[in-house]
Amino acid sequence: MCGIIGYIGEEKAAPRIIYGLKKLEYRGYDSAGIALIDSGKIERFRAKGRISNLEEKIKREPLKGVIGIGHTRWATHGKPNEENAHPHLDCTGRITIIHNGIIENYFEIKEELKRKKHKFTSETDTEIFAHLIEEYLSEGFEKAVETALKRIRGMYAMVILCADEPDRIIAARQGSPLVIGIGRGENYIASDVPSFLKFTNRAMFLEDGDMAVITRDKVTVKNRGKKVSRQVRNIKWSADQAEKSGYAHFMMKEISEQAQAFEDTILGRFNESRGEIKFEHVDAKELKKIKKIKIVACGTSYHAAYAAKYLIEKYAAVSVEVDVASELRYSNPVVDKETLLLAVSQSGETIDTIEAFKSLKQKAGYSIAIVNVVGSTLSRMLHGVIYTHAGPEIGVAATKSFMSQLAALYLFALYIGRIKGKLDAKFVRRGIQNLRKIPGLIRIQMKEKRSIERLAGKYSKKRDFLYYGRNISYPMALEGALKLKEISYIHAEGYAAGEMKHGPIALVDDRVPNVFIAPKNALYEKIVSNIQEIKARSGTIIAITNRSNKEMKKFADDIIYIPDIDEDYYPLLEAVPLQLLAYYIGVKKGIDVDKPRNLAKSVTVE
Ligand code: F6R
Repeated sequence: MCGIIGYIGEEKAAPRIIYGLKKLEYRGYDSAGIALIDSGKIERFRAKGRISNLEEKIKREPLKGVIGIGHTRWATHGKPNEENAHPHLDCTGRITIIHNGIIENYFEIKEELKRKKHKFTSETDTEIFAHLIEEYLSEGFEKAVETALKRIRGMYAMVILCADEPDRIIAARQGSPLVIGIGRGENYIASDVPSFLKFTNRAMFLEDGDMAVITRDKVTVKNRGKKVSRQVRNIKWSADQAEKSGYAHFMMKEISEQAQAFEDTILGRFNESRGEIKFEHVDAKELKKIKKIKIVACGTSYHAAYAAKYLIEKYAAVSVEVDVASELRYSNPVVDKETLLLAVSQSGETIDTIEAFKSLKQKAGYSIAIVNVVGSTLSRMLHGVIYTHAGPEIGVAATKSFMSQLAALYLFALYIGRIKGKLDAKFVRRGIQNLRKIPGLIRIQMKEKRSIERLAGKYSKKRDFLYYGRNISYPMALEGALKLKEISYIHAEGYAAGEMKHGPIALVDDRVPNVFIAPKNALYEKIVSNIQEIKARSGTIIAITNRSNKEMKKFADDIIYIPDIDEDYYPLLEAVPLQLLAYYIGVKKGIDVDKPRNLAKSVTVE
């Protein structure tokens, strides 16, 4: 995710900003930029690639400004190039802005501004906000930002400068984090504490709906027009802890960011009242012709793909095959002009997935990559692309990228169901409503994580685990087992619960815990029968079920409750406790869960 830093004080701003940007490098980025106000004018520099490229550009410039902003960009809207790098300017060059997040209705606003003769120089959603402020600037800088904020929808952290009022930085938060570093005679604004921790450990975290006016010696915060006070906290984190926002591991930080990753991935892609879904880089006309879908992926991405099979077949009545890329590469699949190929990959660089597509792409009617990394090989290789907006994932084990893949795939299943004429707008609207609920429910689940930590304590010494699920919860069983083995080195297997009697039941004894994913859905009775068969043989049951299901107490030794929701959506809530269980068991075993042995984040060799 992008990094934001702003400085106002008596020192030259550029070195402070470059320092702050370097401290935000761990978040990942593909371009960087800086803007300062000097002698009533905005000076802006941007560069593709590393911060050192930006430093190279400003080396020869006598940058004297004592107020400025800087940004590292992780591309979402538009390619990772200099034109799209932040900060962005309005037409007059007097307003400059940096932004994290997504302006959902940017397209409409851009069209409106184009009609008013605004000229845009980038493909970003961010740039429109500088132009929108320009429209209202006669009201004064602060008022103009307030008015412009009322026009936009979405998730954002914005930081803005105006050359006409060089004594202030204005910042606004809705969904994306922003924190003000309170110094002596100087203040900072950043997306994360490490960027200013060397200069001050006093931090004021902004909340959703906040707009802050930051001068050298004062911070004023309003929330939706009303003045509010926000607590100043003393940060006691070490630099290393600060990079992880105080979390012990990147993995936990990323599990905690899943609600946000989910939200960022769905936002801007639907119109709820009309029950409509749209993907910017996907051609709906091509999808109409499709009679079969083949999804290809590896590891965790394969599990997200597998869940999508159940949804797409149910919603669109199109046959879906899901293949592990390393197998597909060396087989002879039937792919023709009526086949849609879908690649699912966090990195977009997994060699097996790329190679599988090299030979198949020409044969297929249409192909789409669902990837997280903008500009990655897969994102460029296929006809269409759907970006998952998880932001950079540093922990080796995929967590928030999985959640954002599911978000994209759920939307896609509804979308193709509609294109194929199998779903009506009402059904899609209901689907969108369910998806919108998920981030809030994940946040509630995260508040209850201590109960899973206790459970992990109870089971961390076990040597084997079995995970069972049925239908769309079956891929979740596969994923739960994969997460556990990756980061705790405990042997774990995932099974379709109906397969239990065909083999794994031979393993039942009092030493192997059986994790059953058993929400109250159409197949609940069937999975309860499986649970009872294990219970009858003195096996141990850990059940994941929905909160309103009171009867599970009769069968299970331990229960992890998840919130109630329409049954197709349970997997989105099952993923979180499965990840937490694996995480806490790994931590209790003293394993470096961020870098488990022998594993690489991006598998670029066969
Ligand atoms: C598991 C994990 C791996 C990846 C797999 C595919 O936690 O991270 O199994 O899911 O290597 O990687 P991508 O999604 O980058 O193609």
